[in-house]
Amino acid sequence: MTDKTLIQNLFPAQESIPEAYRLPEYIEQREYLVDGKLIDWEGDLNPIKSPVCIKSPQGLTQAVIGSTPLMDETAALSALDAAVRAYDTGRGEWPTSSVAERIQCVESFLGRMRQQRTAVVNLLMWEIGKNLKDSEKEFDRTCDYIVDTINALKELDRRSSRFVVEQGTIGQVRRVPFGVSLCMGPYNYPLNETFTTLIPALIMGNTVVFKPAKFGVLLIRPLLEAFRDSFPPGVINVIYGRGRETVGALMETGKIDVFAFIGTNKGASDLKRLHPKPHRLRGILGLDAKNPGIILKDVDMDNAVSECVTGSLSFNGQRCTALKIIFVHQSVADDFLKKFNAAVSRLKPGMPWEPGVALTPLPEPGKTEFLNKLVADARQHGAEVVNELGGETNETFFFPAVLYPVNSSMRVYNEEQFGPVIPVVPYTDIGEVIDYVIESNFGQQLSIFGDNSADVGMLIDSFCNQVGRINLNAQCQRGPDTFPFNGRKDSAAGTLSIEDALLQFSIRTLVAAKHNEDSKAMITRIIANRESSYLSTDFIF
Ligand code: G3H
Repeated sequence: MTDKTLIQNLFPAQESIPEAYRLPEYIEQREYLVDGKLIDWEGDLNPIKSPVCIKSPQGLTQAVIGSTPLMDETAALSALDAAVRAYDTGRGEWPTSSVAERIQCVESFLGRMRQQRTAVVNLLMWEIGKNLKDSEKEFDRTCDYIVDTINALKELDRRSSRFVVEQGTIGQVRRVPFGVSLCMGPYNYPLNETFTTLIPALIMGNTVVFKPAKFGVLLIRPLLEAFRDSFPPGVINVIYGRGRETVGALMETGKIDVFAFIGTNKGASDLKRLHPKPHRLRGILGLDAKNPGIILKDVDMDNAVSECVTGSLSFNGQRCTALKIIFVHQSVADDFLKKFNAAVSRLKPGMPWEPGVALTPLPEPGKTEFLNKLVADARQHGAEVVNELGGETNETFFFPAVLYPVNSSMRVYNEEQFGPVIPVVPYTDIGEVIDYVIESNFGQQLSIFGDNSADVGMLIDSFCNQVGRINLNAQCQRGPDTFPFNGRKDSAAGTLSIEDALLQFSIRTLVAAKHNEDSKAMITRIIANRESSYLSTDFIF
């Protein structure tokens, strides 16, 4: 059980941090990757503050663990130029290379990436406060994603390695890249979610400018050499700095063809509108969400509580797929709250590396103030914090606050909290919940908890045209990665999954000819003499 003293004494003194998890030194990163070269930035640096505070006789101070380049517009544009040159209007070495060659580069990168597991996992803990188990999971899941992407591409290529004869026309259909892709990921999965767009973009033959998330930046550094050595110059370029001066300037050139962005609506809209050719720009976006958990009156309450706790509080609720509002039938609300609050009080707060830790400090500056304001607003409109220690704050740490009864006049009813505040709304008429989902600006996922098949079936039909995934008696989540991950309304553009991502970053091109002797002879010659890398029947085993 958590008590107040545990929260007050949450942060460690430097010497009590286990040696294995101490950062060896302050990391002053000056390198960025452009055109196959690691270049030293000579301008200003951006300090990287950890959510972890360090205790000293002077009090608590947020650890400053390093710094990264605050690149300017000119430096950012040099990365774009390199990507544009490497693409060379689609005639560059990378977009014209064979699938097998591109797979080889990605495999070589993966081998080098695996060697950096400890360094990356440690930085995930220090930069975003993700616990050890989840940081390791993020790393391993990303490696698996790359392996699965390679296998999916092999399969896709096998299907394209044949000709089709249709109505007197002979044709070969292959998927080809779009051009230059700008890839930006979110701070809650700075490795995994970024790589779920970056790797498909690259492997399909696009060239890339990649800007790491706002937190979780230093952890890309151990991978820079691997990027440099595994891909031809200019194919992958990594830049750092403030959004407006860097990616804003790239968008304004109109030379970005694909905008792969996982973050907020506002961030995506601000950048998209800078592009002068909106129809040229393809957006692949994963954005805000306010996924509801809906607890019906006939329910396996223990399961519902356990799924709602992980659903709302894994990584302190900082997941786009987190359950961000819970509707509970009035008749079972007391039972739910009693069990839910008890489960929350069993979650262990602490430092990311401590065994069994579930609740950790938050990386966003001002986040605990923001959450406290959400709680104060809900209180002002009639809700209470109903769990012990709910909202207890110590610097960057905020103990989960369960708010009840929440209603539509409160900010937390519609606003995405992206943190450990759990609004619980009692209802008697399921129509109120259906209306909430229909009227919401978001449409990523939801969870229905109930045992009555008729009730659950009715809700599935009510929601199937509102959200991208309906979870039955289970929390919302992205995985398994072979399943489609998308959203409706303001929650996403495009679908990601291992195979879908390959399709999103490519377009089909068809080579067609009349099905006659002359065409057959010419196509046969091109293939036999290997006169085209596009037109071929090579089969990847
Ligand atoms: O932040 C959004 C992530 O895509 C969620 O992934 O459901 O596996 O945590 P997850």
